[in-house]
This record gives sequence, structure tokens and C-alpha cells, in this order.
Amino acid sequence: MNFRNLSFSGAPLIKTVPPGPKSKEYLDYQFAHEGSAVSYPRGMPMAISQAKGATVKDVDGNIYIDFFGGAGVMNVGHSNPEVIEAASRQLGELTHSLDIPNPARKVMVDTLLSLLPGALNKIFFGGPTGSDAVEAAVKLAKYNKGRYPMIAFEGSYHGMSAGALSLSSGLSFKEDFLPLIPEVHFVPYAYCYRCAFGRKPETCDLDCAQYLDHILEDPHSGVGKPAAVIIEAIQGEGGSIVPPDPFVSRIKEICNRYDILMIVDEIQAGFCRTGKMFAFEHFGVIPDIITLSKALGGAGFPISCIAYRDNLDTWPEGKHIGTFRGNVLAYAAGRVALNFMIKNNLAEHTLTLGNLMLSWLKEIERDSNIVGEARGKGLMLGIELVRDKVSKEPAPELARKVRTFCHRHGLLIEIGGHYSNVARFLPPLVLTEELAKKGTEIFADAVKNVEKSL
Ligand SMILES: Cc1ncc(COP(=O)(O)O)c(C=O)c1O
Repeated sequence: MNFRNLSFSGAPLIKTVPPGPKSKEYLDYQFAHEGSAVSYPRGMPMAISQAKGATVKDVDGNIYIDFFGGAGVMNVGHSNPEVIEAASRQLGELTHSLDIPNPARKVMVDTLLSLLPGALNKIFFGGPTGSDAVEAAVKLAKYNKGRYPMIAFEGSYHGMSAGALSLSSGLSFKEDFLPLIPEVHFVPYAYCYRCAFGRKPETCDLDCAQYLDHILEDPHSGVGKPAAVIIEAIQGEGGSIVPPDPFVSRIKEICNRYDILMIVDEIQAGFCRTGKMFAFEHFGVIPDIITLSKALGGAGFPISCIAYRDNLDTWPEGKHIGTFRGNVLAYAAGRVALNFMIKNNLAEHTLTLGNLMLSWLKEIERDSNIVGEARGKGLMLGIELVRDKVSKEPAPELARKVRTFCHRHGLLIEIGGHYSNVARFLPPLVLTEELAKKGTEIFADAVKNVEKSL
């Protein structure tokens, strides 16, 4: 399929440097009447009115190339016509069902099961957000193992509800709310650019994975035997970190050895984002439980679920409930979105375009002293901004400047990373090569401009 027709033509188009006058009115209203924790409009000040494919329009008529994708939700593109048609049809029929079966729900379960490895043959819908799926996964693990310690990774992000926040490593999110759930322990991820053990990938034997083995083996590690390890096979908010190949399988091997469940959080990396339907497929492992959300709802309709091995399906009726257990509109839209991914071989498109973009970003890395590393897989890309390449001192203020330049020139990007110094690209996967090229050129200009101003 030619994805070009899915997006607005003529992007990027900046008629008025954002925020334009109409956007300003909306922003003023928002800051006056909504809570001060509102965040995205501070980094990308604008009000938006329409979005198509990999492009977004603001109320002042500016059109942006979208490398943000609603934080990795809009995999099949904004306003995907096939998805919108399915959702519209469903809207007039049935929209709420708790967990009472209905045709849309059955087709969604069938579709998910056809995409998952055979071992992951149970689906469970809890609340609508990714955080809800994480809560459900942790409860299922604890219920099965009868233990409550958990292991999570440095650089992890699993959500904002108390349990999910406990498993997320970013202190700025949680330090004002401690204590959260007890007995969560963090171990280093394979973040080779800033290796916790000071090793180089060429010469290391995955010391980070060995460290996990060590704390599980040593009775004086202070870490009680966990119910589960939760991991992002490719880290998202932590800074688009792709671990070396054997890392994820080594973690699974360790989990098996100590009778610990492995939960893989696919909320951001799933649904073709990294060039496979699910990110764990890059690493030859089958997790015990996975969490899914974000792109699952097709058009941004909130929905989440977990998938797991049926020997874990021990919890009794009503053990995990909620008013919004699934979302009929999201089943209808999401199922069509999943078909769209398969029919259009979106995973392959993502991998090919992602590799191409990474090669352009590597050129920027070579030419710039403030780009420490460009990395990623598929269309989950990250560019780590530093004061200089030798000290690698994180430069969050430069990342913010780059984002502002990009926004003013018609490109939307996200910032993440341990030190909020990683420019992150999570575009709709229907991005065309032409938009990818234009967007990357804006990003390259942004880096040059910011570097020149130092
Ligand atoms: C890997 C991962 N897990 C969980 C979540 C939480 O999802 P939600 O924001 O829908 O609660 C996110 C959100 O960005 C995520 O990236």
C-alpha cells in the first residue's frame, strides 16, 4: 500500500511560528483551568485540531511531521480510514460490555491469539491503560508464585498507578509519593552506552545479567526471591535502548533457573514498532506474561490486556475486575488495525525505514559533538544528547532546545532517557520515506543550530 495518501500533503507547513495566536488562546485556557501537572503542551506548545497518517495539524493551520505518534499509540497512523470506518460501525451497535462476550471482543481475542506464540494462549482484559495491564500482570505473577518481591530494571517505565510506578525507575516520577509497593528491586539494564559496570560491549560477558544471577543466588544479597522479573525487551522511555542480542534470553534463562516468571512489557515496543509484531520476538524468548496496550486500540481508543501461559490461569472468578474491562470500540478498531499491520507487512516496512533512518542519524552522530549515540530498532529511535562526546555528560537542556527547534520547524519529537537527554522518535509506522527524510533533515538542522549556539 502507498502510505503517502494517509498523511496530509505538504508537511511540514509552518504558517505561524508555534504557538500561533489561536493555539495561545487554548494554552492560556488550559493552564488557567487544568491542573499544573499537564506536561506535553509545555514542550510542544500548540493546540491541535486534526491528524492524518504521520502528520498533525494545529489550530493555526500549521502541519507537522509526527515523529511522536501520540507516545507510540498511533502505529497505523492517525485517522486511518479502515480503522475509523470499523469504529464508526461499532459505535452504533454496542460500546460497553464489562466482560460479557460480544462479537467484537471474540474477533479481537482470535486475532491476538493468531499473532502470539502458541504458548501465550490466555488473554485477559483489565482496565484501559497500560498501567492497568502492568498491575494485572504483577497480580497474576504474585498469585501464582505466592511471593511478592519483584525485579525491575534501571531505565524502566511501566506506568503511573502505584504498582506500575513502583516498578518504574525514574525518581522524578515517584520521589514525592514514596513509599509505594514494597520489595521492588532494580538491576542494571544492558545500557551499553552508559554501562553500570564500566564495560565495553566487545569485551563484556553481560555483567548486568550476571549481576541478576548473583543477587538471586547470594543469600546475603538482601533481595527476597521474587515472583517475577518485569522487563521491556527494548526499553522505551529509558531512552530507546536496544540490549545486545543475548541479554533478554539470558534473563529468561535465569528466571527459569530460579523459578521466577518473566513479564515482558510490550506496551510501547509491541505491534510492529520495532520491526516485529512483538519486541520479544527479536530475542528468541517466549515470556510467561506480556502486557499490551497503546496501539492495541487502533485509533487511540484506550484498552489494555495481558497474555500469558495457561498454566498460570489459576486465579478465580473476580480476582481482578473493573468497570472498563476491555473496550468494545477499541476491539472493533484494534482488530482492523492489527489486520492492517499484517496485510501491509507493516513490521517489514518499519524495519526497513527504521534502518534507513538510523543510518541518517548515525551520520548526524558522526558530524556532531553533542550527539553521543544514535540508536534504536525499527521506528523506536533515540538520539542521546551530551555536552561532548568524551565526557558524555548528559545534556537535557540541549535536548529541550532541539525539541523546540524541531517544533518550530514542523517536526514533533519526544524526549526521554535516564537524564531526559534523549530525543526520541516514535512515529506512526505508516511514515513514508519522504516524510522520514524531511523530518530527519529538520532534526539535523536542529542539532547543528543548537551546537552552533554553544
Ligand atoms: C513500556 C510501558 N509500559 C507501561 C506504560 C504505561 O502505559 P499508560 O500510560 O497507558 O498507563 C507505558 C507508557 O508509556 C510504557 O511505555
